[in-house]
Amino acid sequence: MSDILGEMRKTHHCGELCSDDIGKEVVLMGWVQRRRDHGGVIFVDLRDREGITQVVFNPTVDEKIHEKAHDIRNEFVLGVRGKIDKRPEGMMNPNLPTGEIEVTVVELKIFNEAKTPPFLIEDTIDVSESIRLKYRHIDLRRNQLQKNIILRHKAAASVRQYLNANGFLDVETPFLTRSTPEGARDYLVPSRVNPGQFYALPQSPQIFKQLLMISGFDRYYQIVRCFRDEDLRADRQPEFTQIDMELSFVGEDDIMSLSEGLMAKIFKDILGIDLELPFPRLLYKDAIGRFGLDKPDIRFGLELKDISDIVKGSGFKVFADVVKKGGIVKALNAKGCIDFTRKEIDDLTEFVSVYRARGLAWIKVKENEWQSPIVKFFTDEEKDALAKCIDMETGDLVFFVADQPKVVNEALGHLRNHLGKRLNLINDDEFKFTWVTHFPMMEYDETEKRYEALHHPFTAPFETDVDLLDSDPLSVTSRAYDMVLNGSEIGGGSIRIHQRELQERVFKALGMDKETYEEKFGFLLSALESGAPPHGGIAFGFDRLVMILCGQPSIRDVIPFPKTQKAACVLTNAPSDTSREQLEELALRIKKTENKT
Ligand code: AMO
Ligand code: AMP
Repeated sequence: MSDILGEMRKTHHCGELCSDDIGKEVVLMGWVQRRRDHGGVIFVDLRDREGITQVVFNPTVDEKIHEKAHDIRNEFVLGVRGKIDKRPEGMMNPNLPTGEIEVTVVELKIFNEAKTPPFLIEDTIDVSESIRLKYRHIDLRRNQLQKNIILRHKAAASVRQYLNANGFLDVETPFLTRSTPEGARDYLVPSRVNPGQFYALPQSPQIFKQLLMISGFDRYYQIVRCFRDEDLRADRQPEFTQIDMELSFVGEDDIMSLSEGLMAKIFKDILGIDLELPFPRLLYKDAIGRFGLDKPDIRFGLELKDISDIVKGSGFKVFADVVKKGGIVKALNAKGCIDFTRKEIDDLTEFVSVYRARGLAWIKVKENEWQSPIVKFFTDEEKDALAKCIDMETGDLVFFVADQPKVVNEALGHLRNHLGKRLNLINDDEFKFTWVTHFPMMEYDETEKRYEALHHPFTAPFETDVDLLDSDPLSVTSRAYDMVLNGSEIGGGSIRIHQRELQERVFKALGMDKETYEEKFGFLLSALESGAPPHGGIAFGFDRLVMILCGQPSIRDVIPFPKTQKAACVLTNAPSDTSREQLEELALRIKKTENKT
C-alpha cells in the first residue's frame, strides 16, 4: 500500500527551532500560512499548533523542488526536510520565536492541497461570527483560538492535579437521566424502547453527586458537561462544562478554602499570578445593597446608595409613591460625568429600561446649583441629606431609579457595570474574587405565582431559620455560596440537606405536594434515610473561568464547537429534521407550526 508519508516523520514542531539548532537536519510538517515568491527564492511560513517556521525553496539548492514549490498555496499541507540556516542579516524577525532561522528545503511532500479558505487564518480578520462558526475547523486554526483551546487543556490539567492531590475521586455520572432541577428547561431525549417516555439530559450532576456521598465516595469531582435549555447570552451555552465537586463531613469554610486553593493553583499554573487568599466575602444583602447585583464587580467603586428614607416624604411624587408602596429609591453617583449630554442620558435611560426601570432621574452637580428636572421638588433639608448620603460634589452626575427593589437593583447594578467600563474604571489585568454568601433560600416567581429555590431545592437552610420555612419562607437564609470573579458568577454551591424530614419540608415550602415530590425525588428521599452523611459541594463554570483566563469576551471563543445564540451548531446544521421512520420508532409525531425557522 502506498503511504504518502513514506519514511518521513517530523522531528520538531514549528515553534521550537532557534539559532542553537543551526546546521541540524530537521523534518517539519504543517500548513502553509503564507507563500512569498521573491523571483527566484520561494519562502513559505509553515504553521502548526506550536508556531510558525520559515522554510525556503532555493533553485540553487534543488531546482526540481523549487519548481514544485510554485504550486504551493495557502493552507496546503506539507512535509519538508531541510537544514537549519541562520537568516541573512536584515531578514530576521524579532517578533517570531523562530525568527532567527529558516529551513532550506531538500525534500518536499505536498500531502494535500486546500481550497482558498473563506477567511484569512489571522487574528485580525473581519468576518461575521456565523461564517467563523460555519467553518469552525478553519477558524480553529487561528492563533488566538489555538491558544484558547490549549490554555483550556492546561487549566483542566491543573484542576485535575489539584483535586487528585487533595484526595478527590473522578467519578462519572449519567447523561441519560431524570430532570435535575437547576432552574432551566431540560433537554429531553425520547426513549425508543419505552415509547412516549423521555430521559432528561442533566442540568448538573447535582443529585448523583449527593448519592455518591451517601454511597461513601467522599471527595468526588468531575469535569463534566451540563445541559440547559435557557436563553443564551455571551457567557452562557446550552451545553457547558462544570468543575463539579462534592465532599462529606464538611462545612462552608472547608469548601471555600479548598476552592480558593484550586483558583490559586490554576492562576499560578496558567498565568503565573499569585492570588491573595482568602477571598473577601460579602453577604448577599450587602452585595445587592452596595452593587445591585449578586455577582458584583468589585474592581471599581460607584456604589449604590439607598435614599428611600430621605425622599419618602418629598414633593417628587414618583419617588414618594414608590416608597409608600413598599418600593425603594437608589442613587448612583457617576463621579465627574457632568458633561454627559441629554442624548447620552437618554441612551442610559433606554439602557435601564431593559431591566424594566420606568425612568432614570438625574441631577448634575454644578458649582452653585443643581441642574435637574426633579430638583424643584426637594426641600433644602432633603437636598442637604442627599448631598451627604450620595457624596455629591461639583462635576458629578447622579442617577436615580425608583421601583420595586428587584427592578431598582438590577437596573442600577447593570448601569454601574456599564459606566465602570465606559468610564475606564476597570483594570483589565486585575482579577478580583469575592464570595457571596447567605442567599435567601427562595424567591417568589411572579409569573409562575410560586416560590422557587434560588439555588436548587437540595440546599440547606441555616438551622436557626428552619422554623420560618412554613411561616415566612422568603426570609429563610440558605447555606449557599457563589464565587464571583470580575463581576462574573464562576461558581456556586452549598451545604446540602442530608435528612429526609427537612428535605420534605423544603419541597413543601416550594409548593410541591407529597405526590409530586415522591414521584420526582422519591429515590433521593429514600437515599437520605439510608445513612446520608452531612455533605456539601460546589461547581465552577469551567468555560467562564477559561474565558476570563484567556481574556476573551465570549464564552464561544473558548469552546471548540459552540452553539449560536439560537442554540444551533451551524457547522453540522444541528438541530435538524429527522426521518419519518425515526419518529415512528420513537412513537413521536411533529406538530406543524406555521413559522418554522
Ligand atoms: P449552578 O447552576 O450555579 O450550580 O452552576 C454552577 C456554575 O456553572 C456555570 N454555568 C454556566 N456556564 C455556561 N453556560 C451556562 N448555561 C451555565 N449555567 C451555569 C456558572 C455557575 O456558577 N449543582 C449546582 C452546584 C452545586 O450546588 O454544587 C449547580 O449546577 O459559572
Ligand atoms: P416625569 O415626572 O415622569 O417627567 O419624570 C421626571 C424624571 O423622573 C425623568 O427624568 C424620568 O426619567 C424620571 N423618572 C420617572 N419615573 C422614574 C422612576 N420610577 N425612577 C427613576 N426615575 C424616574
